[in-house]
Amino acid sequence: MSVRLRALERDDLRFAHSLSNDSRVMSYWFNEPFDSLAELHEIYDRHIHDLRERRFVIEAREPEATGGDGIAESGPRPERVGVVELVEIDYIHRCAEFQIMIAPSRQGEGHATTATRLALDYAFAVLNLHKVYLIVSTENHGAIHIYRKAGFTVEGTLREEFFTDGRYRDALRTSPRWPPTCSPGTRTAPESRC
Ligand SMILES: CC(C)(COP(=O)(O)OP(=O)(O)OC[C@H]1O[C@@H](n2cnc3c(N)ncnc32)[C@H](O)[C@@H]1OP(=O)(O)O)[C@@H](O)C(=O)NCCC(=O)NCCS
Repeated sequence: MSVRLRALERDDLRFAHSLSNDSRVMSYWFNEPFDSLAELHEIYDRHIHDLRERRFVIEAREPEATGGDGIAESGPRPERVGVVELVEIDYIHRCAEFQIMIAPSRQGEGHATTATRLALDYAFAVLNLHKVYLIVSTENHGAIHIYRKAGFTVEGTLREEFFTDGRYRDALRTSPRWPPTCSPGTRTAPESRC
């Protein structure tokens, strides 16, 4: 399965709408699962020239089958599996916040792991950022696992940072060293990993 990032287009808003109204996704984005499609269109139009953000659709495609003659047959169309964003891009401090969501039906297939690496590559190699950070719930064990594999380490704990499902919860602020200097997950002391 190949995964690529491309710019979020107006045609993608119905897909984004399905994610932004799913409480399984939005509770970890610290947001209420309540967005009308009209509102998403309005936000999209308002931010279309906003240089402080890059919003990507994550697309996955099955490998192309090859016929007996070794020539690639036309493969299935790429499918949208999630959204990854660099927001609050600051061109003085050269930093940005990272956010990701994968459609519940496509979770556990490795898409977030690949998309995180691609988005970090874009942030550092294309945008020439100095730092990328993210805020993750201390209870979001799946996401923390992915970020640790991608080389993120904890900068600090934010106590009672957000309210979801009836109570306040803690979050971690984490950031990666980039490029990784050795295999992910082994380069820092365990207590400093996220
Ligand atoms: C978190 C999220 C992005 C992960 O996406 P995904 O595509 O399912 O992740 P991947 O398939 O790439 O990787 C899943 C990994 O997490 C691990 N994992 C899953 N649940 C876990 C848990 N509860 N505890 C520890 N590890 C867990 C899997 O074993 C797998 O590890 P491996 O690759 O080492 O085998 C996705 O669940 C999501 O969109 N959640 C809702 C929104 C969200 O939480 N966004 C992040 C906000 S900071």
